[in-house]
Amino acid sequence: MNIDVVVLAAGQGSRMKSDLPKVLHPIAGKSMLAHVLDSARSVKANALHVVVGHGSDKVKSHFCDDNDIQWALQAEQKGTGHAVKMALDNLAPSGVTLILYGDVPLIQANTLQALIDLVTSKTMALLTVNMDNPTGYGRIKRDDNQLVTSIVEQKDANQQELSIQEVNTGIMAVPTENLHSWLPQLSSDNAQGEYYLTDVIAMAVTSGLTVETLQPEFAEETYGVNNRAQQAELERWYQARLVNELMTQGVTVLDPARLDIRGSVSVGRDVVIDANVILEGEVVLGDGVHIEANCIIKNSSLAAGSVIKAFSHIDSAQVSEACDIGPYARLRPGTVLENGAKVGNFCEVKKSVIGAGSKVNHLSYIGDATVGKNVNIGAGTITCNYDGVNKFKTEIKDGAFIGSNSSLVAPVIVGENATVAAGSTITKEVEAAKLAVARGKQVNLKWQRPTKA
Ligand code: UD1
Ligand code: CA
Repeated sequence: MNIDVVVLAAGQGSRMKSDLPKVLHPIAGKSMLAHVLDSARSVKANALHVVVGHGSDKVKSHFCDDNDIQWALQAEQKGTGHAVKMALDNLAPSGVTLILYGDVPLIQANTLQALIDLVTSKTMALLTVNMDNPTGYGRIKRDDNQLVTSIVEQKDANQQELSIQEVNTGIMAVPTENLHSWLPQLSSDNAQGEYYLTDVIAMAVTSGLTVETLQPEFAEETYGVNNRAQQAELERWYQARLVNELMTQGVTVLDPARLDIRGSVSVGRDVVIDANVILEGEVVLGDGVHIEANCIIKNSSLAAGSVIKAFSHIDSAQVSEACDIGPYARLRPGTVLENGAKVGNFCEVKKSVIGAGSKVNHLSYIGDATVGKNVNIGAGTITCNYDGVNKFKTEIKDGAFIGSNSSLVAPVIVGENATVAAGSTITKEVEAAKLAVARGKQVNLKWQRPTKA
């Protein structure tokens, strides 16, 4: 069966008070519209139509790499029915059309699939929820046999209708050929002067179709975001689910309310994550990885047994087994730590390989370098990799020892088992096993301290 998905995303979102179009605001690090599109993709939609209006250029350019989207423009927002109509010409004549909303981000794929499965040539399907306080929503009207007959909007409803607690989520699946005939018949003769999509429900009944309803597993799936508080509420709900999923997979999370996941995380056994950790992008945590408090880990993989001590920041790095990082370490993109390497406090490593068993323990900057095995890099060592225009490489071979407070001016090579004396500025290759001393010679002079006049 052909499935067309139409996502309404033309509204302004003025209560967000933002220069960013509402549907581009994130939940768990991903735009609300991207969440909706990903759910639509997982029901194997044949075509994705997104109706844009306010901020359409920004929305389109945010998704410029998604070439499965067909954009429809709704220049003026004349109502939800009018919005769907803007995509109508692009909908396949037969099959099912699923209608979603760019600001209802957490609708789940299984709910959408169940809704689509209800549709036949004689049935359309509507997602509803029951609310203690239904104010503001369209109410679902049913006849004596409990069959849906129509939806009445808040502003058009009478006293009795206002007491109905079953409301329209807006999400529906409709035989496409019916949409083609119904949408052109919508009228704006109502309290808001808008073309209501909800009027197709009564048209369906008139045309002899049954309106089946379905309720989602979680009401939060149908929550819309109109302001920052609602955005934060959905963020918390979604984070709780993501963290719960990790715990189900065997991760110890010391405080589930203080772990944030903004991407996808895969984990081995017995991973431990302490409070205030943020995992972003694609993160892989091997068996027994321990992440202490206040760390940010982005697009990185950490192999079995590695420990990330508190306040470390790891971005696009590859950490092998049993490495020891931090506290207060920063691994920047292109960092590779081989088995058992250590990067300690206040060290920054960028685009460098630190070989197995090597240590960069204190206050160092290692950039554009290849460090071999069992190298000891003393406190305060700096690779001077940049001349203000170009970047150059440093190579430190197996077993080398770099004394504290040394500067290695790249391009430069420190040979196998070579030693650099503390405080040296190295500008030339140090041959294997040699000691390089490149610092002012100490002289001890006879000296009388000045006294106060
Ligand atoms: C709509 C439903 C209501 C339902 C509620 C659920 C109608 C007439 N009413 O009401 O029954 O309970 O959603 O939240 O459909 N949009 C456009 N173009 C437009 C108008 C709206 O793209 O011309 C988009 C908005 O950006 C928004 C969504 O459609 O994402 C819903 O529009 P909104 O005005 O919020 O509808 P409600 O009045 O809340
Ligand atoms: Ca609304």
